[in-house]
Amino acid sequence: MAVNAKFATKIGLVAATVGSAIGLGNVWRFPSETQSNGGAAFLLVYLLCVLILGIPVMLAEFAIGRSGQSDAVGNFKSLTPDKKWWMAGAIGLLASYLILSYYMVVAGWTLDYVFSSLTGSLYDGYESAASTSKFFGDKMSALVVSWQAPILWTIITLAINFVVLLLGVQKGIEKLSNVLMPVLFLLLVIFAVKSLTLPNAIDGVKFFLRPDFSKIDINVIINALGQAFFSLSLGMGILITYSAYYPKDTRLTRTAVQVSALDFLVAFLMGLIIFPALCSFNMGDTASVQGTTLVFVTMPEIFANMPGTVVWSVMFFLLLAIAAITSTISLGEVAVSFVNQRMKVSRFWACVIVMAPLAVLSPICSLSLGAVPELSVGDMPIFDFLDTFATNIMLPLCAFLICVYVAWVLPRKFIEAELTNNGENRTKTLPATMFLIRYVCPVLIALILIAKLIDILG
Ligand code: PFF
Repeated sequence: MAVNAKFATKIGLVAATVGSAIGLGNVWRFPSETQSNGGAAFLLVYLLCVLILGIPVMLAEFAIGRSGQSDAVGNFKSLTPDKKWWMAGAIGLLASYLILSYYMVVAGWTLDYVFSSLTGSLYDGYESAASTSKFFGDKMSALVVSWQAPILWTIITLAINFVVLLLGVQKGIEKLSNVLMPVLFLLLVIFAVKSLTLPNAIDGVKFFLRPDFSKIDINVIINALGQAFFSLSLGMGILITYSAYYPKDTRLTRTAVQVSALDFLVAFLMGLIIFPALCSFNMGDTASVQGTTLVFVTMPEIFANMPGTVVWSVMFFLLLAIAAITSTISLGEVAVSFVNQRMKVSRFWACVIVMAPLAVLSPICSLSLGAVPELSVGDMPIFDFLDTFATNIMLPLCAFLICVYVAWVLPRKFIEAELTNNGENRTKTLPATMFLIRYVCPVLIALILIAKLIDILG
């Protein structure tokens, strides 16, 4: 059964794909990776990784999805019916579902912060606190280890996902992305202007944009490769699923370049927002930029010390919530499309079958962070275990198999015909793209995989 749904417009399909790519990876993972990998040098290496790894792997996924016209697993079955390559899709499908189960929780935190910024409760007691530097850290810890609020917001996020996915590709995913992506870019520009006009902003700009090449080593390269991977949503079936909804005349190379460029732009703008603000408020130490601390602790502290605290805070967490929710929707669509196609049930039942287990799984992830510490694997909370296992192992493994599949299993002529719309939209970059997919990307991905395995086992 081929998918019937198609994105209605070119802008809509780019907005939806960009909506998937832009996520927490851009807004907090990128600045914290940049901080711990030496600033501008990392930015340059990252840009290179997007060009030599990100765009070619994205094109490989597009070629599978648009020619297969099915879900993340079904595409492999329709292209190579007698082979076991569908397992590559199954790894991506499973990875995206596991990631979704904890990403829902984080998306829920962002909604909680929008709400508590709006009501002002996030900042209640800040002025009179005994230690203002610990104030927001304590608030964040209190939220994470409690159960009521995180579970409530996780369920609300689930409900939003359910409605959008039920509305379908055009009326749900595409319409929502068409509205939310421009809002996200507008918020980013407002923040960038504000941040760049703060006192001492220039020190942050220098850190972010003036490269020190002596900082580049193998770790910086591996981290930049991993970031490109995460940020562009590679290796989790999303791009394969979405590209099955691309019309046959969509120019795949152009789309991949547009999506990657916009995703990079968001990460770049986040750098221009975060580093000047950190320097301006003397908060540039590494500890304040790591992971969740950056967005849920350091940023509120900056807003608390700025005029217009509530307005800036609401806008910032709204930006985060938009980035997170459009990503959860794309992760969810991988599973919905799979259930819809493979089990041949209606979209409504596919949404129920996908979302119902998450109503249990996501709260479990949330509770594992403190309320019920027994929910762990070894000494890792289930939340962290899923994150480590899915993003570090399953994603690179799936992407590696996708590259090998496109490069060495499917006929070269077939892939070239797909990428050029049967020769109508041939690009000068085609030979380079094929070379990268065949030789460079599998090696780079294998490198990431080995480095992550050594990291986890060592
Ligand atoms: N690309 C999105 C982001 O940067 O957050 C979505 C995403 C990537 C979700 C990787 C989950 C993930 F593991």
